[in-house]
Amino acid sequence: MARYDEIGVGYARGRRTDPRWLTPVLSALGSAASVLDVGSGTGSYEPPSRHLVAVEPSAEMIRQRRPEAAPVVRAVAEALPFGSSAFDAALAVLTVHHWPDWRRGLAELRRVSRRQVVLAYDTALHSDFWFVREYVPEVAALEASRPSAPEIAEVLGAVSVTELPVPWDFTDGVFPAYWRRPEAYLDPAVRRSCSALAQTAPAAVDRGIARLRADLASGRWRDEHADLLDLPEWDAGFRLIVA
Ligand SMILES: C[S@@+](CC[C@H](N)C(=O)[O-])C[C@H]1O[C@@H](n2cnc3c(N)ncnc32)[C@H](O)[C@@H]1O
Repeated sequence: MARYDEIGVGYARGRRTDPRWLTPVLSALGSAASVLDVGSGTGSYEPPSRHLVAVEPSAEMIRQRRPEAAPVVRAVAEALPFGSSAFDAALAVLTVHHWPDWRRGLAELRRVSRRQVVLAYDTALHSDFWFVREYVPEVAALEASRPSAPEIAEVLGAVSVTELPVPWDFTDGVFPAYWRRPEAYLDPAVRRSCSALAQTAPAAVDRGIARLRADLASGRWRDEHADLLDLPEWDAGFRLIVA
């Protein structure tokens, strides 16, 4: 059973495409006419008007794809069932950190495509997020085990790495999406959409949430994080890598 068959339930509801990330993803794909979206999930960042094929291992994620979405092949990044240079570009958005053999997956991306566009994150910056530092430090161990954006860029031989800040009202519920809306983390549905929390011991998450709830009620969180409240966007470490 693929991990996302379990943690991906309700994904399409909590993880809605944000145009502020879709635009740079589309421009990174350049003039590619054929695109392979690896670890496509529900297809949040799939470009329209191109010949697109999706690859996704989880039946639950495939089930949540829109009826008009591109055709999807059930497979994993580490063994792509396509010939060499079959696509102009390969796209991998917020997925490389889930691949058991991410180096092999990246080698496969390079084999099947001429251009690679990967949206990943710097795991050290994620671990420095206030939610991790102050409430659920156990997430840092998981982050340390995941490939980080600079490593991914190096392995791919990237030609560009662009910072993608998280707007304060971001619609794609990635883990740090609610950096300025802390009350959101009290909602179990929001936490379920974040793999970093879904893959951390429930007792540790519950402990952190109880502390956050108390700090929000007492006003302590606001006092401690007054500097964040006027920021329109914040760098949580997301990087758009082009190779
Ligand atoms: C956080 S979701 C991202 C989905 C989509 N790219 C997006 O941006 O909404 C991660 C996806 O990676 C998929 N995945 C996990 N392991 C994989 C592997 N070895 N190869 C390809 N995809 C994988 C999961 O099933 C899940 O759909």
